[in-house]
Amino acid sequence: MSEGRDISDLIRELNELKEKIKKGGGEERIKQQHSKGKLTARERIDLLVDEGSFVEINPFVKHRVSWFDMDKKRFPGDGVVTGFAKIDGRLVYLYAQDFTVIGGSLGEMHGKKIAKIYDLALKNGVPVIGLIDSGGARIQEGVISLSGYGEIFYRNVMASGVIPQISIILGPCAGGAVYSPALTDFIIVVDKISYMFVTGPQVTKEATGLETTFEELGGAQIHAEKSGVAHFMVENEEEAFALIRTLLSYLPSNNMEDPPIIDTGDDVNRTDEELNSIVPTDPNKPYDVREVILRIVDNGEFLEVQSPFAPNAVVGFARLNSRTVGIVANQPNYLAGALDIDASDKIARFIRFCDAFNIPIVTFVDTPGFLPGIDQEHGGIIRHGAKILYAYSEATVPKITVILRKAYGGAYIAMSSSHLGTDYVFAWPTAEIAVMGPKAAARILYGKKLANVGDPAKFLDKVSKEYAKLFANPYIAAEMGYVHDVIVPSETRPKLILVLETLENKRDSLPPKKHGNMPL
Ligand code: HXC
Repeated sequence: MSEGRDISDLIRELNELKEKIKKGGGEERIKQQHSKGKLTARERIDLLVDEGSFVEINPFVKHRVSWFDMDKKRFPGDGVVTGFAKIDGRLVYLYAQDFTVIGGSLGEMHGKKIAKIYDLALKNGVPVIGLIDSGGARIQEGVISLSGYGEIFYRNVMASGVIPQISIILGPCAGGAVYSPALTDFIIVVDKISYMFVTGPQVTKEATGLETTFEELGGAQIHAEKSGVAHFMVENEEEAFALIRTLLSYLPSNNMEDPPIIDTGDDVNRTDEELNSIVPTDPNKPYDVREVILRIVDNGEFLEVQSPFAPNAVVGFARLNSRTVGIVANQPNYLAGALDIDASDKIARFIRFCDAFNIPIVTFVDTPGFLPGIDQEHGGIIRHGAKILYAYSEATVPKITVILRKAYGGAYIAMSSSHLGTDYVFAWPTAEIAVMGPKAAARILYGKKLANVGDPAKFLDKVSKEYAKLFANPYIAAEMGYVHDVIVPSETRPKLILVLETLENKRDSLPPKKHGNMPL
């Protein structure tokens, strides 16, 4: 084939081709991308992965469509850079959509490249990271581009629970395209750069008459705070890449592995006297449960997930004795830590992630119960709240609970009580475990009698005090064996580490079934 040609010419030709490929849609488009405050696909990959570790796959692939003058827009790579690389020495597969090529739109071959990455990652048990910056389905390829998305969605689902999947939205992500990141485990959005919506501002106006903007409809803040679609929001792209490194450091590469052990150097026997006074004994006084978490986990390092969404619940990753744990907590600083629809979804999804990837779950309880209200009832708090019960019951990873203060009613059961298969339940002496708060209990028990007593307020006060004396403590639950031990708060860290050690080889399984029918 290369009859008479010099190998050095062939290599030069190859290098020239590769240089051209690296320019994506060309210098002018790259300038436009930078002028929007965005990096190119290759710049992003360089910042994300270990230096020099990226190996590209299928850089020469082009689309094969001619409609709408597409034969004049045939760029090698077809608008997506795919391959594998290392992050902190660990293998990842990744794809980065290149907005400089036909707006990063997804046609047949672009879709096939992403699907190939997924197939390789799934076979080899390696996480996938998607860097998304795309105008969506390539309009000129019609239904063919839809098939490309369909193939990706299918693989997102097949990979779910097998390998961690992380999506970073680094530009537009519109229409059905949003469902690929939505099917992955974590979505990172960047302020003022990310936009996600099923239908954009124009269609929204046509359908509803309401004017809106990209930012108001589907900007980073909306998804981080309101919709709960995003798990992390960062200020700029560099922060997003640093966050991915941190996140991956807590996770195993696949569901057959344990999370990496990273020596934190923190003393396993460390006690903390401050913990004895952090939780007010007055059940109506708020406090920040994150202070409790930070004092217990290794070096006070806690990667909070979905922090501004449903702040009445706190979830995230930390380490105890250098090993990853998933933390779930009620947050008395917001809605008194009551469980509402959003908090239920947040907690349940996090538990399922931890369970899928062999991450033990430590739960800190201080909740007055499920949030009352017409909005909550009509919004389906019954089916949403049930997700917490379902997720904890189904989780077979080590589960440990610490009841800090209030644990009332259904929420006591739902928040990883021993009745749901939790391995160890500890309570602090400040714990109150009962069907409901003393005042509400007295009112229900003696509602009819109140009409016949001289001073109803005084009577209620007396009865609620009796109820409080009986139940506003951890000891009845401890007598019943529902609580394994009541512990001094300052000793929580060594106790958790000790029992986690006993659970290191825990093996538990569910009854054989295709899958359960989780309330959705
Ligand atoms: C083909 C596209 C494209 C698309 C953008 N381009 N989106 N080409 N198919 N989906 C092209 C533009 O024509 C333009 O090419 C170049 O990319 C850059 O786009 P601009 O519009 O100049 O960029 P910007 O002003 O930054 O606007 C970005 C944008 C806008 C907001 C994403 O391009 C846009 O609204 N695109 C259409 C989005 C959309 O409706 N997609 C379909 C969604 S439905 P030239 O050569 O002119 O510069 C969907 C269904 C998926 O995705 C279903 C899965 C099940």
